Amino acid sequence: MYTSKISGLGYYVPENVVTNDDLSEIMDTNDTWIQERTGIKERRHIKKGDGNSTSTMGAKAAKIAIERANLSSDDIDLIIFATLSPDMYFPGGGVRVQEMMNMKTIPALDVRNQCSGFVYAISVADQFIKTGMYKNVLVIGSENHSGGLDMTTRGRGVSVIFGDGAGAAVLTRSDKEGVGVLSTHLHSEGAHAKELSLEGPSTGHWVPEIIAENAQENIPYYPYMNGQFVFKNAVVRFSEVINEGLQANNLTASDIDMLIPHQANLRISQFVQKQFKLSDDQVYNNIQKYGNTTAASIPIALTEAWETGKIKEGDLVVLAAFGSGFTWGSAILRW
Ligand code: UT7
Repeated sequence: MYTSKISGLGYYVPENVVTNDDLSEIMDTNDTWIQERTGIKERRHIKKGDGNSTSTMGAKAAKIAIERANLSSDDIDLIIFATLSPDMYFPGGGVRVQEMMNMKTIPALDVRNQCSGFVYAISVADQFIKTGMYKNVLVIGSENHSGGLDMTTRGRGVSVIFGDGAGAAVLTRSDKEGVGVLSTHLHSEGAHAKELSLEGPSTGHWVPEIIAENAQENIPYYPYMNGQFVFKNAVVRFSEVINEGLQANNLTASDIDMLIPHQANLRISQFVQKQFKLSDDQVYNNIQKYGNTTAASIPIALTEAWETGKIKEGDLVVLAAFGSGFTWGSAILRW
């Protein structure tokens, strides 16, 4: 029986820093509100003309992860690309990265599970590796949120939260038992699909219809979030799915060395930290610097935690996410 282990990690964020004060110049918001409600101080936004896109950022993060795994792009057997903000409606980001990195005709698979996208992608990679089908799987989470946010006061409840960036991991087959991905648990609840969603442009709102309806009035193509409802569900589901993962491995919260929660809101992470009685050193947060980068948030945080020596060999690392769908999931890893 094979296991899959993270052999390389990387991340990339655009250089352009957007502070809360910068946002308060273009909409009715302020640093105090944003920090008190979310913990965010600044985020990165792609600047027009800086050459960044969801795929290019994904490729930059992937390059670092592959190098750190001591592999070349020719060694990768499968690309899994998680995003809610692809460069194009179709095809997805996976094939774009494949082209940018001159990779062979390996399969490229796109995952559309929003904030849970990276955890879902890790789970898919793990299954392919465990069955023996693939040896090295490249998993990418990348988002260009700034290109599609309503940056007026009308959209402030959503637009101050999200940032751009990418993270990547290489999962590699291992023969050692009890290391790497110990388990993944995934869930979804489509009944709440509309509570955090972006309706168009899509087959529900084709372009001719948008033009005919005068898009300014209708705005189906800006994200919508029922913030308080999402928050209430998030804190419950985060805790449930972390417990589910721990129990499946006969572990308890006291076994956790590092929890990397999806960076949705610092208040959500703090709530979960309290529930599991974890110290500040046992939970990694960087939403203060990057905002919520959706599918990219866990791989960026995981890479930073690893780079700064906060994750060591033998550590029990827990990844957990909740977001649009609703979808949620956890991955339990022995480093
Ligand atoms: O990553 C996917 C999962 N996402 C989440 O888990 C996000 C979950 N939700 C949240 O994090 C929070 O609900 C938010 C941070 C989005 C919002 O915080 P809240 O405490 O739920 O605020 P609210 O939406 O209830 O709004 C409170 C007030 C409103 O004003 P009134 O009606 O009380 O006068 C809003 O209009 O704050 C106002 N407001 C703002 N004020 C200044 C909303 N956005 C802003 C803003 N700046 N950016």
